[in-house]
Amino acid sequence: MQIDILTLFPKMFSGPFDESIIRRAQDKGLVDIKIHDLREYGEGERRSVDDRPYGGGVGMILRVDIIDKALSALVTNHKSPNTKVVLLDATGKKFTQKVAKDLSRIKHLILIAGHYEGVDTRVHEHLVDEIISIGDYVLTGGEIPAMVVTDAVVRLLHGVLEKPEATTSESFSPITNHQSPVTTLEFPQYTRPEVYRGWKVPKVLLSGNHKEIEKWRKSESLKKTKKVRPDLIPDP
Ligand SMILES: C[S@@+](CC[C@H](N)C(=O)[O-])C[C@H]1O[C@@H](n2cnc3c(N)ncnc32)[C@H](O)[C@@H]1O
Repeated sequence: MQIDILTLFPKMFSGPFDESIIRRAQDKGLVDIKIHDLREYGEGERRSVDDRPYGGGVGMILRVDIIDKALSALVTNHKSPNTKVVLLDATGKKFTQKVAKDLSRIKHLILIAGHYEGVDTRVHEHLVDEIISIGDYVLTGGEIPAMVVTDAVVRLLHGVLEKPEATTSESFSPITNHQSPVTTLEFPQYTRPEVYRGWKVPKVLLSGNHKEIEKWRKSESLKKTKKVRPDLIPDP
């Protein structure tokens, strides 16, 4: 997979992509992540990329022509089914595990990080395939959202995690409950010591009875989801 990220702040990406699983995925050649400085497509001596909003208002808006130029340098035909251009924006559809799974099937992902007051709406309307928000809050820029999307997508790529089943039995994976699949949060997990300050590991997990452990995990998973995220459980 190839991931290109367009940003005004390329230095923000050193660190998160240089460590741990994402680093190893790049080293193994499973993903090629490139960070592009939007400023390179800016105009004039100051490499200007933004301007004041028409109609007045606070802040600066990233220009549509600058983003178009940057995209054209990356792809000649970005509408091909194997390439997806995504704008990170608080007005987009919410990023979920399902969206991450869908994006992990794309060969070439281009992420655009906005900044300041946002991006000219003609980018939303004409230049991107999808607009994604990572949650109902406003951040200073699309860099952290681009990192969030990249991280969630890359760990789903074949070969990135040593044990691929890790991605099928974790939070937001469907489990079957009374024949129908429900999306749940992960069951509680414990490791040594068996007792710490009087806090005990549930007996069933020490029993060695795999059937009972499975049953307990499923029921705890449902219990936790109903308590913390009832919105995930469909009405009967
Ligand atoms: C300060 S924000 C602009 C907020 C915009 N004026 C609004 O009201 O929606 C600057 C940039 O941060 C990014 N951003 C902020 N919040 C985001 C979120 N929840 N999800 C994805 N991107 C976000 C976008 O790229 C946006 O262009």
